[in-house]
Order: sequence, then structure tokens, then C-alpha cells
Amino acid sequence: MAFTVAIDGPAAAGKGTIARAVAAHFGFAYLDTGLLYRAVGAKVTEGADPLEAAQALRAEDLNAEGLRTQAVAEAASRVAVNPQVRAALVDFQRAFAARAGGAVLDGRDIGTVICPEAQAKLFVTASPEVRAERRYLELVEGGHEATREAVLDDVKARDARDSERATAPLRPADDAVVIDTSEMSIKEAVAAAIGAVEARGAKA
Ligand code: CDP
Repeated sequence: MAFTVAIDGPAAAGKGTIARAVAAHFGFAYLDTGLLYRAVGAKVTEGADPLEAAQALRAEDLNAEGLRTQAVAEAASRVAVNPQVRAALVDFQRAFAARAGGAVLDGRDIGTVICPEAQAKLFVTASPEVRAERRYLELVEGGHEATREAVLDDVKARDARDSERATAPLRPADDAVVIDTSEMSIKEAVAAAIGAVEARGAKA
């Protein structure tokens, strides 16, 4: 049976960690939809046309190296305001969501636009300062150069662009469970998410 978990929220709120843990707990497949926009953004920085890059995207492109950098995140959020780019990526995401055996998708518009019929919807958030600190540590651990100030500026700029765009802006679905992870450990956040998904009828 298809069971879809939609997880949305701003940059570095902990969506990926929570989504992976939820998928592992219930035995569902996981798709980080940010990677689709990152892969398109990366191709655009190499000179590709955004729409052509989105239309030509293949599953293998999501494994490309270098998609986690701040520069690619910035490029991703720029291509993500383009309605044609977003439209070109819809089918891939819906097909993934409908797979038998269950799926978890994380992004910005999964519960509102991509899978409005998802059985469980979570909106994972945290204060900009907490998110910037987490992203800073993640980047430094990954061997990337970063400063706290630059990461906080980037997080705020992307939040503004993602929330204010006309097409599929970042916002919680009306029926989403909001989880603010500002003061939660990873364990607590994962437990809250699993509890919310169980409450919607998923079984491990
Ligand atoms: O990991 P982080 O939250 O920093 O970023 P991401 O989820 O990889 O997404 C990178 C950018 O892609 C975001 O800032 C959004 O502009 C865009 N995005 C989107 O518009 N819709 C999605 N479903 C996922 C990402």
C-alpha cells in the first residue's frame, strides 16, 4: 500500500535527519527533493539553461558530487522560483511518492503542492540562529569553508526567497503537524515525528 509522508520546512531545520529516521523506522523509501533543485542549480552554474536542465534531469544526477555546498544551495533557491522548472520536476516526485511500500519526501512544497493527499504531513522548523549554527557545523565537518555570519545570512536570504516566491511558497499545509526543533535533541525530534506519523495510521 502507498503511504506518503510529506516533510516540509526551511533550510537546515533538521528535515533530512528526521525524514531519514522516519523512513528507516517504517521501512519507507526516502527522497530529498532539495537535491532535484540543487542538481538543476549546479547545472545552471555550469552554464545550462534552467528549464532544459530540469527537463533533462535523471535520477543519477542526484548523486553528483558537490551538491551540498552553499553556492549550489543558493543556485538551487534561485532556480526554484521558476514555475516552469518546478513544473518539470513534479512527475518525478509524484511517482516516487506513489511507490508501493511507502515513501517519505522532504522539501518546501510537498504537503501543499506535490502531495496534498499525503497521509501524514510534518512541518519541521527552528529559529534562524539555531538552523544557521547547525548548518555551519555540518559544513565545517564536511570540510567546506564557512563562517557563522555568512551561513546565517544565507539561511535568512533563502528563507525569504522560499517564503515570498509566487509559485509554491514555503508554508505549512493546513493539516501539517508543526515540529519546532529549536530546543529539541535529534532523538526528541525524531520521536515527535514518528509519533505524528503513527497517529496518521502508519505501522512499523
Ligand atoms: O538542505 P537545505 O534545507 O538547506 O536545502 P534543500 O532542501 O536542499 O533545498 C535547496 C533549495 O531548493 C531551497 O532553498 C529551495 O529554494 C529549493 N527547494 C524547493 O523550492 N522545493 C523543494 N521541494 C525543495 C527545495
